[in-house]
Amino acid sequence: MTQQAPAPDVRRVDVRHRYEILVDGERAGLTAYRDRDDRRVFFHTEVDDAYAGQGLAAILVERALADVRASGLRIVPVCPYVAKFLKKHEEFADITDPVTPEVLQWLDAQLGR
Ligand SMILES: CC(C)(COP(=O)(O)OP(=O)(O)OC[C@H]1O[C@@H](n2cnc3c(N)ncnc32)[C@H](O)[C@@H]1OP(=O)(O)O)[C@@H](O)C(=O)NCCC(=O)NCCS
Repeated sequence: MTQQAPAPDVRRVDVRHRYEILVDGERAGLTAYRDRDDRRVFFHTEVDDAYAGQGLAAILVERALADVRASGLRIVPVCPYVAKFLKKHEEFADITDPVTPEVLQWLDAQLGR
């Protein structure tokens, strides 16, 4: 009988403002955000090279966005990967807000850049 790999785990790490995806207990990637009032602004997603191309970013972002909904918040997709994901997953359209120059300026200040 073949052994199934355990499902990856996604956790929200509030103090680091990010969600992490774990494979066999090892962190394989993250999606980072900052909160502005009721909007969770996603600005960067990365998956370690060793885990690339296995669909992990999609699992991570899907679970993160489901958590945003469950938390009663809204999504702002500054991260190009999250923006692309949302184009394919219309089920989050009702809680997605556009990226505006004002949000980008706010984000730059938050990130000190
Ligand atoms: C982008 C990244 C997170 C994808 O991780 P992954 O687990 O290999 O991704 P998945 O297997 O779930 O999905 C691959 C998809 O990501 C897309 N993708 C790759 N790089 C991308 C980028 N920079 N922006 C948007 N989408 C990207 C691919 O086109 C592919 O799309 P498809 O499913 O329509 O074919 C990973 O390649 C990475 O860490 N890249 C470096 C950091 C980066 O560019 N982050 C994105 C912008 S913040």
